[in-house]
Order: sequence, then C-alpha cells, then structure tokens
Amino acid sequence: MASSSRSQFTSRFGFIMAAAGSAVGLGNVWGFPTQAASNGGAVFLIVYLLMVFLLAFPMLVAELTIGRYGQANSIRSFRAAWPKGKVPMMALGIVGMIVASLILSFYGIVAGWLMGSFAESGLTLIGMKQQGLWLTTYSVPRNLVLMIAFMLLTMYVVRNGVAQGIEKWSTRLMPVLFVLFIVLTLYIFTQDGALEGLKMYLVPDFSQLTPGLAVSAMGQAFFSLSLGVCVMTTYGSYLPKNTNIPKTAAQVALIDTGVAFIAGLMILPAMFVAKHNGVEIFSDSGALLNSDTLVFTVLPAMFDSMGMIGAFVGVIFFLLMIIAAMTSSISMLEVPVSCVTEELKLSRTKAVLVIGGIIIAISATIVCNFQLLFGAVIQLTTVYSQPIIALLITLTVGWIWNRHQILAELKQGYPELENSWFWKIWPWYVRIICPILMLMVFFT
Ligand code: PHE
Repeated sequence: MASSSRSQFTSRFGFIMAAAGSAVGLGNVWGFPTQAASNGGAVFLIVYLLMVFLLAFPMLVAELTIGRYGQANSIRSFRAAWPKGKVPMMALGIVGMIVASLILSFYGIVAGWLMGSFAESGLTLIGMKQQGLWLTTYSVPRNLVLMIAFMLLTMYVVRNGVAQGIEKWSTRLMPVLFVLFIVLTLYIFTQDGALEGLKMYLVPDFSQLTPGLAVSAMGQAFFSLSLGVCVMTTYGSYLPKNTNIPKTAAQVALIDTGVAFIAGLMILPAMFVAKHNGVEIFSDSGALLNSDTLVFTVLPAMFDSMGMIGAFVGVIFFLLMIIAAMTSSISMLEVPVSCVTEELKLSRTKAVLVIGGIIIAISATIVCNFQLLFGAVIQLTTVYSQPIIALLITLTVGWIWNRHQILAELKQGYPELENSWFWKIWPWYVRIICPILMLMVFFT
C-alpha cells in the first residue's frame, strides 16, 4: 500500500511540531479560555483535563495509527482498516473531510479578526491608530476581506506540500509562541484585578458542574486536539514507520494542553484586569458579553495597559497567533486536498484552488448571515460532528480493525510494545471504555 513517492515529515521533532501546530491554535487561545470563563472557570478546567486524558489521548493514538497504516488520505486509510466495509468507511472519510472544511470556514473568519488586530497594532505602533480602526470594528466587508486574506495565505502554504510547507512553519515558530505566552502571563499577574481571575480559573466551585459542561468540555478537547475530522489520520499517513506513536501522541497532547492551560492562565486574569480598568466584560446578570469576541476585547485592553511597549508586544503576539492559527488551518485544508489529489488525481495546485474556493464561498455565506450561521456552524461541527465521527473511529479501531494489524503497525516504532502497560490497556479501552464514556457524556 505504501507508495515511496509519498512525502513524509523529515524528523520526529518536525512531526511533533506539525501535529502540535495543528492542535495549538484558536482552540487554545480563543475557544478554551472563553469556554472556561463561561462555564465556571476551574470546574471547566478540571473536566477538560479529564476529557483530554481519558478520551482525546487514546483517540489521538487511534487516528494516527489508522493513518500511518493506510499511508494515504483518510478515505483510503479507513478503507484499509476494513477492506470489506468499503462503503461505510468511504462515507466516514468523506463526512470527515466535509466537517474539516466546515470548521475551516468559521476558523478563517476568526483568524481574519486576528489579522485585523495584528494590522491595527502595527498601525498604532507607527502612530496611525485612527486609520486602523476599521480593521477591528465589526463589519461585513472587514470580515470578508480579512477572511479571504487568511484563506489565501493558508492555500499558499498547503500548495507547497507537507515537508516544505507545514513543517518549516511549525518548527520555527511554535517555541517562540510558548515563551511569549509565559512572559505575558507573568506580566498580567502584576496587574490589579488579576487575582480575581486567577481564583475563578483555579478554585473550583462545584455547584457549576452541569451535564452540559461535560459535553462542552468533550467537544473542546476534540476540537483542540484536531480529532474527529481526519486531520490526525491524514498527518499520521505522513509519519515515518519508525516513530513511536503512543509516545508522540502523548507529547502532542501535552503540548496542546499546556498551551491551553497557559492561555487560560493569561486570559482569565486579563479579563478581570480589563474589567477593573472599566472595560465591559460581564452583563448585569454576570454572564459574559459577546463571548465570541471576548478575546479580541481583552487582549488589546491588556496591550493598552502596557503603555508604549504595548503596541509592539501586540504586534508580535498577534503575528505569532496568526501563525498558530495557520498551522491549524493548513492541517484542515490538507484533509480534503489529500483526498482530492489522490482519489481524483487532480494536481495539488488545482485541488487547493478548487477546495479553497469552495471554503471561501461557504465562509462568505457565514459572514453575510453572521447571527444566523456563525454559532450554528460551530455548534454543528465541534459539539456534534467531531465527537460523533470520533466515536465511529473508535468503534472502527476497537471492533472492526484486525488486532494483529494494529499491533504490527504500532510495533514498528515501539518494538517492546507487547510487554508495555499501554498495550495491556489501550485496545480494550478504545473498544469499550471510550465509546461508553462518549455515549454517557452525550446522553446525560
Ligand atoms: N486544534 C485546532 C485549534 O485548537 C483547531 C482544529 C480543529 C484544527 C480541527 C484541525 C482540525 O485551534
């Protein structure tokens, strides 16, 4: 099945950075802190960590393994895991590809806002704050222009292919982002009001624990680790055979969760600092105002509070965030592009143009019907589709895929696998516990 001409990541570090690059993105810095702030802070954090550890990590191993076994786009990889079930497996791959495209269509809008904030900080830096206002003020033309700009950049990188495009961006910039986060977190702690946010984030109030919270935390965990949309199956197919998948998956999960945790540590206190400085964050009833754009209010308020250096820090921060969003968006676009190039034998450039064009059209429709569609598409894809597809993937790995093949596949990068605790637990876990846990979360 393996075709030697298929490109691969050139090193394990490169792959970890690319997979972590897919995982780390708006989900960590926009999704997670917003959800934590609207769902009781620390309680959300605890449930989220449980979801990552109990569900997302084992699922990540499953997706990467299918992809590496199949050595092909997700449609073909699923089919390889169950050759007799051609139709259901193809359907799963196709649905995954559609969901990945839909996620990209709202992701591009939010990432466009980041580009707006970036450009505005740049203009502020050179004393042209007034001219930059359009970029950060909500309007349909502004949302359209920024979304298209972001999508074109994403298309450009994906056109250049795996090793050159994705790996190069991820390896260089991810570490820088991490360091900047830590510095900003330390800064925000020195500000008045930060303590209140820190308390909300770290001291649990269990009266806030609701069944709805578990569903949100599960969706957020799958979103953040790029699961249930065939991204990790696709990336797995570019993974060299001698890589230890469980270990690599653990590292990716750890990096992603670490970044989400630190983002929360920065943004929840920053919210209360902004509130302390007179920015409206909560309504009278205590609910969050405009949760979609919360981060885009709180962060500039934080940079403003830094005085002269703030605009400069803002430029760097937003630039790094754009890149983090881009290493995620390229992974989403890679799913349909790899399917179309391999299944329909289209050239990479053509595939990128056609699929990118379709996604831009969908995204533009959302922009023009924002109230109606934006929240609905997010809900449909992240709360329902991702966990359901992930469930179908666990069922495939747990019940259908031949266990000897799984063992043989994993052993290539982990020769002592059979004697490890991982192999004693994981196959049963994916077979029984994961589906039950997911169904429980859904139906309680
Ligand atoms: N994990 C990415 C983030 O946190 C988003 C994403 C979802 C990427 C699904 C790929 C697939 O921003």
